[in-house]
Amino acid sequence: MDKPKVVLGVSGGIAAYKACELLRRFTESGHDVRVVPTASALHFVGAATWSALSGNPVATEVWDDVHQVPHVRIGQHADLVVVAPATADMLAKAAHGLADDLLTNTLLTARCPVVFAPAMHTEMWEHPATQENVATLRRRGAVVVEPAVGRLTGVDTGKGRLPDPAEIFELCRRVLARGVTEPDLKGRHVVVSAGGTREPLDPVRFLGNRSSGKQGYALARTAAARGARVTLVSANAGLPDPAGVDVVRVGTAVQLREAVLKAAADADAVVMAAAVADFRPAAYAAGKIKKKDGQDPDPVVLVRNPDILAEISADRARPGQVVVGFAAETDDVLANGRAKLARKGCDLLVVNEVGERKTFGSEENEAVVLGADGSETPVPHGPKEALADTVWDLVVRRLD
Ligand code: CTP
Repeated sequence: MDKPKVVLGVSGGIAAYKACELLRRFTESGHDVRVVPTASALHFVGAATWSALSGNPVATEVWDDVHQVPHVRIGQHADLVVVAPATADMLAKAAHGLADDLLTNTLLTARCPVVFAPAMHTEMWEHPATQENVATLRRRGAVVVEPAVGRLTGVDTGKGRLPDPAEIFELCRRVLARGVTEPDLKGRHVVVSAGGTREPLDPVRFLGNRSSGKQGYALARTAAARGARVTLVSANAGLPDPAGVDVVRVGTAVQLREAVLKAAADADAVVMAAAVADFRPAAYAAGKIKKKDGQDPDPVVLVRNPDILAEISADRARPGQVVVGFAAETDDVLANGRAKLARKGCDLLVVNEVGERKTFGSEENEAVVLGADGSETPVPHGPKEALADTVWDLVVRRLD
């Protein structure tokens, strides 16, 4: 089989050096990568590096190898174009269809999926000109990932960092695997909760659960690859931020509820993949609870936590909002799942059978997705991303 053909466009920002790692990930996993840097990108990383790492020639202008008509051929033959980093200038050129070098020409001739991973200073990212260019590109079907928040070039920090190359690579892999040029979640805002809540007893102890957060992160990652704006409300997951996803970190069920309700206000879909504690300790000891010689420990009194899934299902923040819940069942999986779906009032319920092989923290999952309309979609044992894509397929059908 032919290797998938990837064009890695690199524009002139300091994050260009991180594109070397992205390039390695592509080549090491069997992709044929043609790097097309802009002239200013070469101030940061030279052509020799791109050529050596990709094993392909490197050009920035349309005047090199003219007989091969590279400005048309490279774009036409690509299976994916990813521009990382994409500067404010590059986004502006792409949005307006300028074509004054090889990369901008390639963007006009490409008919494959296109991903932009912007990196710039916060002010430049937030400027209305940049935001309008990003909106234009997204409306046309490009996946423009949100920059990460963190340390920028100088001493300042803020939104504008290039997401982790490993995460950009994962996103590109998903986009390539789907191979569609029109992302079906474009223009949509989705909220995903992930991980497991921790309910503190005292400053050092908590009641928690074994949820790894991997299924929720897979949902966030796949939604971003399908063009959605994603808010991931993450409870104690300890996983790397998926590229292009806004991550809100929470600890307890009450904090998770607050963050989910806030994000859900303008969301098209809410997926509750987090394992939320049904109960929390009634009292929180401000100091560490000490054992007392000769005395039995005090019993821990628990109180109910709010049922977030039931609440957002009953009181939709906007008409047509699709709400998805998860359920882990050991027996009578389908009957219990149906009853839970009705009780919670959500549109879809992903029912996992928990047993020996299906342990927490694994990379794979197997489930049945029940619909309030009576539908039943089995998802065979496979990667959590595959289950996530099935969930989004079902959500998209309901949104449409
Ligand atoms: N959930 C929630 N708020 C809670 C508890 C759970 O939003 N306080 C959500 C989870 O995110 C998940 C679904 O509800 O989407 C799972 O519900 P589960 O805890 O299995 O349901 P229960 O009604 O508590 O049923 P069970 O008695 O089986 O625990």
